[in-house]
Amino acid sequence: MGYFRKTILVTGGAGFIGSHVVRLFVNKYPDCRIVNVDKLTYAGNLANLKDIEDRPNYSFVKADICDFERMRALMRETEADGIIHLAAESHVDRSIRDPFTFAMTNVIGTLSLLQAAREYWESRPEGYDGKRFYHISTDEVYGTLEITCPEGTVPPFTTRASSGVRHLAYGDTFFRETDKYDPHSPYSASKASSDHFVRAFHDTYGMPSIVTNCSNNYGPYQFPEKLIPLFINNIRHRKPLPVYGKGENVRDWLYVEDHARAIDLIFHEGRTGETYNIGGFNEWKNIDIVKVLVRTVDRLLGRGEEEDMNLITFVRDRAGHDLRYAIDSTRLQTELGWEPSLQFEEGIMKTARWYLENQEWLDRVTSGDYLRYYDEMYLHR
Ligand code: NAD
Ligand code: DAU
Repeated sequence: MGYFRKTILVTGGAGFIGSHVVRLFVNKYPDCRIVNVDKLTYAGNLANLKDIEDRPNYSFVKADICDFERMRALMRETEADGIIHLAAESHVDRSIRDPFTFAMTNVIGTLSLLQAAREYWESRPEGYDGKRFYHISTDEVYGTLEITCPEGTVPPFTTRASSGVRHLAYGDTFFRETDKYDPHSPYSASKASSDHFVRAFHDTYGMPSIVTNCSNNYGPYQFPEKLIPLFINNIRHRKPLPVYGKGENVRDWLYVEDHARAIDLIFHEGRTGETYNIGGFNEWKNIDIVKVLVRTVDRLLGRGEEEDMNLITFVRDRAGHDLRYAIDSTRLQTELGWEPSLQFEEGIMKTARWYLENQEWLDRVTSGDYLRYYDEMYLHR
């Protein structure tokens, strides 16, 4: 496309992870055109990209990935060479209340994008040469793992040689790329289905696809319905911290910029048709995370470090709540040399500080004002 070496469509680029991916690509590849395709649901927020919105290699298209005709036209108009597909409904609790929306966006939306990419790329003289369809998925498709650390013990720590980032594990089993799918929530069932469609397009039509399954991300710009931003905001305002069940569930946390770095590496150097697991080597029980958050936020606000522990409130468990997620990302490490760069305490400190310094962003997002503001900014000018 003219001046640019390549055009890459990033779907869901106004969301949490997508905005970090867009920022990284826009900054790192000025010779590539990055087109952010996002419907701007409640979770999409163009304020996440304020710092790069005027760059010559960035553009935004408000569109629904389920709209097949629109996706078809977009492929032709942009002459896209690559797609990094992050657009999705992403919150498990919402999927329990409204599974249809998840099936629509995550399954039909992915299918619509695959078919549009297929039609366009197959119509080109070079066919699939130099093309890539990168589908971002989740570790939740693999189901759940046991906790084998004895009750009351701290999980074993091992220090990984090269980066020095500590490895925390609550068990000796991990999700591997070869594991069978076993989704339990409507969200993970819809993501599993979308992964199957991507692989089916690879096997049936030769679509040059890659799938990655990542663990829980945290960091700036995450919608405050997810555990970490919700709790940081609640601690600040001294609101109750609703811990599901006994807070014993374990998640493997990865700083969002480390995920974006992995996506960049895999998009450029990953093997076509391959699956890569991405994880933080960083397993925490929810209750322990909540305590770290209370200490961190209270410290940053100059309150007594444990002052707000009494905000912790145990509430009814999430239906079908998976006990433990833990990723084995050996393939990504050995093939492409990726590892997480940040120790959790450092990442949490950066994250808490960001939310405390960006109260206006949080207020907008929670009030829905940003939707009106950006509709005016982008749609009526
Ligand atoms: P998010 O909810 O913050 O953002 C999703 C984005 O997709 C929003 O900008 C939204 O407007 C957009 N979108 C939703 N429906 C759309 C549609 N029909 N058409 C176009 N755009 C639409 O999500 P996130 O947490 O950034 O997750 C991004 C991707 O990464 C998802 O596919 C998710 O399954 C996957 N993932 C997330 C995590 C995590 O911890 N957040 C971990 C692993 C994988
Ligand atoms: O594992 C990857 C997945 O991580 C992504 O695919 C999802 O898009 C993302 O939302 C996330 O899913 P989780 O359900 O693990 O994230 P959430 O932040 O909703 O919850 C983290 C844990 O905290 C989980 O065990 C449920 C618990 N929780 C969550 C909330 C919102 C609470 O105890 N209280 C809460 O209020």
